[in-house]
Amino acid sequence: MLRVMSVFGTRPEAIKMCPLVKELASRPGIASLCCVTAQHRQMLDSVLNVFGVQPDCDLNIMTPRQTLSGITSKCLLGMDEAVEQLKPDLILVHGDTSTTFAGALSAFYHQVAVGHVEAGLRTYDKFSPFPEEMNRVLTSSLADMHFCPTAGNRENLIKEGHTRDLFITGNTVIDALKTTVREDYHFSTETLNALPYNEKKVLLVTCHRRENYGEPMKNILLALRQIAESRQDVELVYPVHLSPVVREAVDQYLRGAPRVHLIDPLPADEMHNLMARCYLVLTDSGGLQEEAPALGKPVLVLRRETERPEAVAAGTVKLAGVVQDDIVTMTERLLSDRSAYEAMARAVNPYGDGNACRRIADAIEWRYGLRPDPPEDYLA
Ligand code: UD1
Ligand code: UDP
Repeated sequence: MLRVMSVFGTRPEAIKMCPLVKELASRPGIASLCCVTAQHRQMLDSVLNVFGVQPDCDLNIMTPRQTLSGITSKCLLGMDEAVEQLKPDLILVHGDTSTTFAGALSAFYHQVAVGHVEAGLRTYDKFSPFPEEMNRVLTSSLADMHFCPTAGNRENLIKEGHTRDLFITGNTVIDALKTTVREDYHFSTETLNALPYNEKKVLLVTCHRRENYGEPMKNILLALRQIAESRQDVELVYPVHLSPVVREAVDQYLRGAPRVHLIDPLPADEMHNLMARCYLVLTDSGGLQEEAPALGKPVLVLRRETERPEAVAAGTVKLAGVVQDDIVTMTERLLSDRSAYEAMARAVNPYGDGNACRRIADAIEWRYGLRPDPPEDYLA
């Protein structure tokens, strides 16, 4: 049996890797192993619970207000034991977190092959997003197989000199969405059942990025306050990330504003179904930029750049930046100008067709001689 160990630790990695762990488990020639670093604790456990995945190994590294060096060094030390215990032939890491980089580096130290899921995203700005841009560049250097969501992602890797074992698979987040979104979904969070989705415009907000800490986050939160205070036709729902830095800023600048619902992080199925019912998404999240277009919801990105240009090109995502007036103006337009809204609110799927996990598993089987042909590339 080929022993494939998936390593992840944060909420978004878990949402995008759980479907793959299950797909690999369905292949007769593969032993699908799962090692979580638990860089996130509660937010990770919530995802494992939604997808019904039980890790074989849990490094349990999270501490409050953890530092980048702290996460990386604890992951590295923990991974020594995990590799010894689970003896993988291939280690899969996802995306661009500190868990991703440490997982790939540890695989290299143990001379185990690395597969990088969600490979090839770039801004070419070392400090934005921070530290994610360098995490993914370094991970690409360590990887033996690169699973790129889009053709553009593969182009980026080719330009950097990576020429072998590049696969265009689509993003596994679309596979995840297919299992969570239901038309007749009933929320277990009562506030969400009670929201006036038809009578008012429900704005779904998230914000957590490290490069937005400080002044940018303050500007974003004050913009949200201004919108909520001035628009009676809006309800703003914000599941607040558990990072104490984020929670303090939200308490200082947004709490108490009218028509604002500050709630705890939602389980992934609740979040996806809320997104499917909302009017507009405002976010600095990577995952939301991929999910909302698939659900036909416009996105204003609360950042200066994005490594996900495909939905911007398709017209469903716009960069709003981190200046208060710009965010207010762009949101106002989508609230008041029906044709501007309709132009953005179209379901587009540049990030996948829901078969990314199948392609990744096929590519692994092919590389290890378990199937004669590689998978067809995903074409958007
Ligand atoms: C991390 C990733 C980021 C990703 C984000 C997704 C790094 C450096 N950053 O950022 O790329 O976009 O996850 O959300 O890898 N906390 C809890 N419980 C939890 C999760 C977090 O209490 O379940 C608190 C802890 O105090 C923790 C802090 O949040 O120290 C920050 O978590 P951390 O993983 O360091 O950074 P994120 O901003 O979540
Ligand atoms: N998400 C969730 N509950 C929440 C907020 C987000 O399940 O309260 C999901 C969201 O739908 C997406 C992922 O978490 O699938 C994005 O994670 P996050 O924004 O933390 O990280 P990023 O994608 O920016 O790395």
